[in-house]
Order: sequence, then structure tokens, then C-alpha cells
Amino acid sequence: MAQYVGAVDQGTTSTRFMIFDHSGNEVARHQLEHEQIMPQAGWVEHDPVEIWERTSSVLQTGLGKANLNASDLVALGITNQRETTVVWDKNTGRPYYNAIVWQDTRTDRIASKLERDGHGDLIRQRAGLPPATYFSGGKIQWILENVDGVREAAERGDALFGNTDSWLVWNLTGGTDGGVHVTEPTNASRTMLMDLETLAWDDELLALFNIPRAMLPEIRSSSEPDAYGTTRANGPLRGEVPITGILGDQQAATVGQVCFAPGEAKNTYGTGNFMLLNTGTELVRSEAGLLTTVCYKFGDADAVYALEGSIAVTGSAVQWLRDQLGIISGAAQSESLARQVDDNGGVYFVPAFSGLFAPYWRSDARGAIVGLSRYNTNAHLARATLESICYQSRDVAEAMEKDSGVTLEVLKVDGGVTANELCMQIQADVLGVEVSRPVVAETTALGAAYAAGLAVGFWNNTDELRENWNEAKRWSPQWNDEQRTEGYAQWKKAVERTLDWVD
Ligand code: G3P
Repeated sequence: MAQYVGAVDQGTTSTRFMIFDHSGNEVARHQLEHEQIMPQAGWVEHDPVEIWERTSSVLQTGLGKANLNASDLVALGITNQRETTVVWDKNTGRPYYNAIVWQDTRTDRIASKLERDGHGDLIRQRAGLPPATYFSGGKIQWILENVDGVREAAERGDALFGNTDSWLVWNLTGGTDGGVHVTEPTNASRTMLMDLETLAWDDELLALFNIPRAMLPEIRSSSEPDAYGTTRANGPLRGEVPITGILGDQQAATVGQVCFAPGEAKNTYGTGNFMLLNTGTELVRSEAGLLTTVCYKFGDADAVYALEGSIAVTGSAVQWLRDQLGIISGAAQSESLARQVDDNGGVYFVPAFSGLFAPYWRSDARGAIVGLSRYNTNAHLARATLESICYQSRDVAEAMEKDSGVTLEVLKVDGGVTANELCMQIQADVLGVEVSRPVVAETTALGAAYAAGLAVGFWNNTDELRENWNEAKRWSPQWNDEQRTEGYAQWKKAVERTLDWVD
């Protein structure tokens, strides 16, 4: 009887369930969006109960679409938007507050105070991260300080924290009836609370944020049999499936792109962009504004680390053209509109909606459209939006080269925006390197499936996974050096204009 691995990809805008066969081919998928709650400028929240309900639905419907039963799945993997913070009551299963999303900037004062008080270096050194609104630590602190009763509950051990991986695993494994409260190092490495070397929660870091240890999940490996329990028979899959792999979504995409050797990198184009470079078991500390993060830890093997360039706003800038400006009706139209012009007509758009992440880390930045003249049209703005995705990736690629000495020859890409052929061509032009997209573009879910399947021997080793990777399309640079240098210099000037905008 054929067997399969399932993976839940709980992302920023939607949750999907995918089923893969042994060759890494997709057998079925189902996907549902959830609400983006924006109560104030800079605040972004999700309803954790809605996320759990959507997860239950996609699991049930996805399995049905494939005409399979829980017993056909040898394992289930979970991958998730990282950093997004849920705190819930273990006795009732109810969240105390909405999930505070990674893009949310309400904790900017917490982050800047840490730097002002001289704690920045400790956090950089131990957690591999600069103090920033992006990570979970400040978000947990905000909930403890601003939501009545949570601090007392956390000290009693009744309030549990998790990123959405922990929230889903807890619910899938029984919730108030014995739910398992766990995470793994790729997610934990995004909290500012884990020591990157020991892969354990760090008391000194916890003290900086005044976070009680009792609320934190146990850190297990990213791929391990019997690590995170089994789905409940009365749950959405209607059967018991071992959950044996968890990876933060960007690390999952790195695994799905089979970047298992040091020096191999991928760039994922989603709501934001995330470029990760595998640095092997060596912890490379960034001097150029990148994050040091755990790439994966499979079973008892040593952890593999990565350098990461995180960009907050890329695909969501295209959504902004659709939802806020109304100049396109769907993402695909950003391509047809931008194709109406040959170049950006002098317009540069820096979508610093959540400040600027890598390599700048400036929460005081806000978006800007510069270089406008009467000549410009919506088409130039659409083109400038696609270029902003590619220029931000160039900023990160430059930082990666500085930190690692590795020169990119081919950039492996994946994620929704890679369907935009023009954007991928611009990416090759702006970087001056080839850009390559695999056949299975859903590398995030695939990576989680790989982590889960490796744990149960469905796949024996990473070499076997490499054989599943095939290129679908490659773009080669068409710009000359002068165009590339000039365009990038203008981009840098535009970035300057966005800084120091808010206190
Ligand atoms: O760090 C945030 C990242 O994990 C979110 O990814 O694909 O859900 O936008 P995505």
C-alpha cells in the first residue's frame, strides 16, 4: 500500500495542508486564509482560534481530496510562520490575547530600550539576533505587561507560550486533555531567548524580558520519532498520526530546496523574503546585519546553522497595490501592469512598512516612493514594486557575501512571488546571477514533510532527498554592468530617504 507524508504549513496569510509521496511529489493540498487584524498603525494580529479552526479544516479536507485515511500517512510535519506569539491558558485552551504577528512593531520601545541599556551585545552574542520588534521575546513581554492576569498565570504555570508550531501541536495532541507543549531549535532561535550554542532557554535572556521559564515549551529536535506526540483519533485527521518533524517555515524551505551543504542558499518570496545560507555546524556571527539562526537539527546529529537575511515586506507590497491602492485586482496583474513599461521611469519604492529588517534593522524607517514626475503611471509603480523585492534581496545577498565570503553563482528561489516571471527576470538582472526555480515550488511544506519523513525512515538520508530536486526554470541576467550599478546606487539613495522617519 502506498504511503505518504503530510505537512501543515501555517503561514502569515494562510494555512495549508499538503500530502507528498516518496518522490516528493504533491498528492493533494488544501489551503485557507485567515484574517489579518490591524487594530492600530504598526499592529498586526491573528486570532489563534481561527488559525486552529483553519488548520483542522485543511487537514480534514486535504485528506478527503486525496481520498486517503489517517492510516495512509506515516508521519505529519509542521512548519509555521516564525516569531508570531501566542499565549494561552492550558486549563481552558483559550488564548489570553490575539497572536502578535512577526510584522507587528508595537514592541519598538522594548527593543530600543534593550539597546540603550547596553543589552544588545548579549542578545546578539547569545541568541544571534539584534534586539528588534520582529522576534518573540518582546511580544511575550508585552502580553505579560498589558493583559490582565497573564503574569500571575504564567508564574503559576497555567499560561503557555508558543509560536504557531507549539500552538498547533498542543491542539493536535489533545489540547486541555494532555496536549504536548513542545518546540524545536529553528523556532526557538527566533525568540531572543535561546542560547544558540546549547540550544536551551537561557536564564540571563529570560531575565532581560522578565519571562517566567514555566511558560516556555520544551525544545526537542526538528526531526525525531516520538518527539511531539500523535494526533488524536477524535481530531481533524480522525486517526493517530505521529508528528515527527517541526521546522520554522524559512528553515523548512531551505530543507525543501535540499540546501544541506555549507554554502548552499535559497531565497523564499512570500509575504516577506527570506534568504538563508547553510553554514554547516559552524556558527557564523554576522557583521553585516544578518541573523545567525538554526537551520535544522535532525535527531541526535549536531545542529546545522544558517545566516539569514529577513525582509519584512515583499509579496505584501504587491498585496498593498491591490488592497490599499486598488491599482491591480490580483497579484498576477502586477506583472501585466509592470510589463506595460520598459523600466521604472525613475521611480523607486521602498516598502518599509514595518521599518527595515536585514541588513538595516531600522524600526524608525517608513515606506517611501521617490523619483516621481508627472510622466509616471501606475505601471511604473508596479514595476518599482517588483524591483523593490529584488533590490531588497540584493541588499541581503551583498551582506551574505561579506559575512561568509561565499559568492552566489545561482540563486535557488521559491514561494508565491516566483510565479511572477518578470520579477524573477528582474531579480537575475539586479543581482547579476542566474535564478533557478524547482519543479516543486512548495518547498516550505515539502521541507516539513522531509523532516517528518526522515524521522520515521520514510526517507533514509538527505542524499535521497537531493534526488527529488529538479529545476523547472532558470533566468539569466540581461542587464549590463552599468545598468546594474546605476540602478542599485539609486535604490540605496531611496533607502536613505526612509530612515529616521519615526522616533
Ligand atoms: O519570519 C517570518 C516568516 O517565518 C514568515 O513567513 O511565509 O509566513 O510570510 P511567511
